Amino acid sequence: MTTRRIPFFDARFDREEIEAVIRPLERGWLTMGEEVQALEEEIRGATGAAHAVAVANGTAALHLASAALGLGPGDEVICPSLTFVASASAPRALGADIRLCASVGSHDLAVDPAAIEASLSDRTRAIVVVHYAGFACDMEAIRAIAEPRGIPIIEDCAHALFTRHRGRMLGLHGRVGCFSFYSNKNATCGEGGALITDDAELAESLRRLRSHGMTVPTLDRKRGRASSYDVIVPGFNYRIDEIRAALLRVQLGRLPKRLERRRQLFQRYAAAFDGTAVQLPFTEGRHADELEETGVHILPVVLPAGTDRTALVEQLKKRGIQTSVHYPAIHTFSAYSDQDTPSLRATGELSNRELSLPFYPDLADEDVDTVAGELLAILEQQAAPASRDDSPLRPNA
Ligand SMILES: Cc1ncc(COP(=O)(O)O)c(C=O)c1O
Repeated sequence: MTTRRIPFFDARFDREEIEAVIRPLERGWLTMGEEVQALEEEIRGATGAAHAVAVANGTAALHLASAALGLGPGDEVICPSLTFVASASAPRALGADIRLCASVGSHDLAVDPAAIEASLSDRTRAIVVVHYAGFACDMEAIRAIAEPRGIPIIEDCAHALFTRHRGRMLGLHGRVGCFSFYSNKNATCGEGGALITDDAELAESLRRLRSHGMTVPTLDRKRGRASSYDVIVPGFNYRIDEIRAALLRVQLGRLPKRLERRRQLFQRYAAAFDGTAVQLPFTEGRHADELEETGVHILPVVLPAGTDRTALVEQLKKRGIQTSVHYPAIHTFSAYSDQDTPSLRATGELSNRELSLPFYPDLADEDVDTVAGELLAILEQQAAPASRDDSPLRPNA
């Protein structure tokens, strides 16, 4: 039994990051200044996007994307059920109706393109996709559904920061990509977000909506280039401040190395669970060939059917191992209970069997072995069904 505490997530900051945070304070300019401008340039450079717009958080990014695409009452937006609720709430907050979709299965937790197709109606105005855990959705299949119908795809890239799919950054496979820099994300500044797009008109609209629909950016007013402005559309205050932008710039500079470590840790977990009753999704089929491009964000496993997850979590906690769940499926929330249809039953079961294990670049190899070993030992004690192949959630099995 482990004596060391292994947290679910661990963030540590060093001198370079602390000094970066002090820079804007010394300059005496706290929001939408040189750091934000440099951050947007760096995001553009790293992703190859024509436009990058930094914002207050990932939910703000999704909300802005939805608003800039003109979503509102009478529209339907298709969204996976197995995601963080913000993916659905952002368009819904503008008055759009949400159509929640099933995941592929226990080997691939991403949205099922067939479920997207089945959810289309003559009111469908956008499709939100989520690259769950950092693994790309089947974008070719989803684009083949969306593009002939002229339906824009919003990519929720909260888990997939600077991650490629077939050589192109996620976030640039649809109309607009949304990032989150929340504290547990692959690069963080506590609360932060960004959007990328190649669509110049959309980018202009995002920038305008980010700052109250005003025609003149804050930095131009600071530099005395303009003393007045017009408001041409009702907007929001979704600006990000200089302090967080400065921290994020250091974090993003370190991201490629950290993503490499995340891939190594994923492979170590994969080896530890190979041939056991615990299934690690995204290890089969197209995902197995794409790991080199992927920036793994979380480590979700699917427990054997019949596992008492609550008891398991408690026993892991007693052994010093912290876990989480990603996610309670959205259709199980009161606010989305109208979506609780038979087509989402398997996704609901999948969500009840999901457990996210400790995963961050500073995790030691031995910690992975400890977590996997303890988990398997507890499951054996629980005498859960021995074979994952009994699972009704493996349509391809
Ligand atoms: C998939 C997904 N979408 C959206 C968000 C919202 O991002 P934020 O917390 O930065 O608002 C998050 C993260 O929290 C997320 O994991």
